[in-house]
Amino acid sequence: MSVTSLPLNGTGVSEVQIPQIGLGTWPLTGQESTDMVTTAIDNGYRHIDTAQKYGNEDAVGLAIRAASVPRDELFITTKLINRYFGDVANVRAGIEHSLRETGLDYIDLMLIHWPNPQLGKYVETCASLAELVDTGLIRAWGVSNFKPEHLQNVVDAGLDIPLNQIQIDPLAGQPDYVAANAAHGVVVGAYSPTGRDLTLSDFPVLRDAAERYGKSEHQIVLRWHVQQGRIPVPRSSNAGRQRENLDVFDFELTDAEIAAINALDNGSRARLDADEYGH
Ligand SMILES: NC(=O)c1ccc[n+]([C@@H]2O[C@H](COP(=O)([O-])OP(=O)(O)OC[C@H]3O[C@@H](n4cnc5c(N)ncnc54)[C@H](OP(=O)(O)O)[C@@H]3O)[C@@H](O)[C@H]2O)c1
Repeated sequence: MSVTSLPLNGTGVSEVQIPQIGLGTWPLTGQESTDMVTTAIDNGYRHIDTAQKYGNEDAVGLAIRAASVPRDELFITTKLINRYFGDVANVRAGIEHSLRETGLDYIDLMLIHWPNPQLGKYVETCASLAELVDTGLIRAWGVSNFKPEHLQNVVDAGLDIPLNQIQIDPLAGQPDYVAANAAHGVVVGAYSPTGRDLTLSDFPVLRDAAERYGKSEHQIVLRWHVQQGRIPVPRSSNAGRQRENLDVFDFELTDAEIAAINALDNGSRARLDADEYGH
């Protein structure tokens, strides 16, 4: 089962490759989370998406440390909560918190989970993360839930942002936000990539494509992300659906099919507004 990798083109991380499909782990914790990650690694997943806020870094770390696959073949993303925003010392304490929780020696990708603009610290936090790449505690850094104005403020401070993980599904395509990321050379990660509770088979465009390629509607949507260079992190605790979600590298949607899926966008934004919500 092949997984494509993409370069992260940010400061100091031009060598880092990210497996294009990751396993989402929210909201599972404890043994359920460990079991889900173990099954996913056995099913070919090499990229796992966790966060300090999910309360499952310990459970995810347990699965990674016990995996049959060597650590350097796995890619772990986690996300910083705002308690650890600010100068290099505080951000480093945040990274060390994740290292303690996971029991790992390094994190592959540390994202700022939410910009929390009311704190006025996200630009400084980006600079601290970029500086900390050199310590080897993290291989790359990035952001999550950053709107175009947040990206712009970081870019204006002279930083290249490697990746921004935002909510994108066919109904909430947020093409203007995607374009803003592209304009700054920021790789887009997609969370809730299949719309979480959407019934994808309700949409004829997805149903027809699924029938044409002998794939499921979920696979069509994940292929739609992958083909546009995004890094989706679908979550499934079911072994069969995990395999299904990774099995999207043996067919190609046409430009017309991609455009038809893009046209499902109804203009909606993420469920939570990053100018008001954060942790
Ligand atoms: N950065 C952020 O602020 C942020 C916010 C939210 C989420 N995330 C990340 O994104 C990940 C994924 O997002 P999400 O969990 O909200 O939504 P999602 O991955 O789009 O949807 C998950 C749901 O889809 C079902 N599912 C998965 N594959 C399926 C398939 N092939 N066929 C049918 N159903 C399928 C799962 O059920 P089963 O388990 O039963 O298969 C689960 O109920 C999270 O786990 C988290 O890691 C990040």
